[in-house]
Amino acid sequence: MIAAADVLAGTITGTRLSDLHSLDHDEVFGVVENALEPFPTERRQCADVCIEALRATFADLRATQIEEFAGEKALVCTCFGVLEETIAAHISERSLKTTDEVAAICNAGGGCGSCRMLIEEMLDALRIS
Ligand code: FES
Repeated sequence: MIAAADVLAGTITGTRLSDLHSLDHDEVFGVVENALEPFPTERRQCADVCIEALRATFADLRATQIEEFAGEKALVCTCFGVLEETIAAHISERSLKTTDEVAAICNAGGGCGSCRMLIEEMLDALRIS
């Protein structure tokens, strides 16, 4: 379990959640298993516990972000608490063209990825105007 936790910590440091397939359990398990050895069936729960703890931590973080948001402005990225107007300002001021560029500047879209379509629509709308 310690080895699995160590691999997870090393893997997620500096990595976007979207690059971890939004923490899909099987994908993350594959990462752990590739770094270590294939888990014997009776030891699989060692990695499962670590992965579920990681997923629960990010779910709690996201829920906290939503709970703490009390503004009236549109919140586009709940993972990182980024407002629509913040994203629009970055797109306009820095002439951003892609969701990856937006994520690099303000993290929006760099978590679970569920807001990426909204960001893509904003990029399209601001490109046209
Ligand atoms: S809502 Fe998860 S990355 Fe934006």
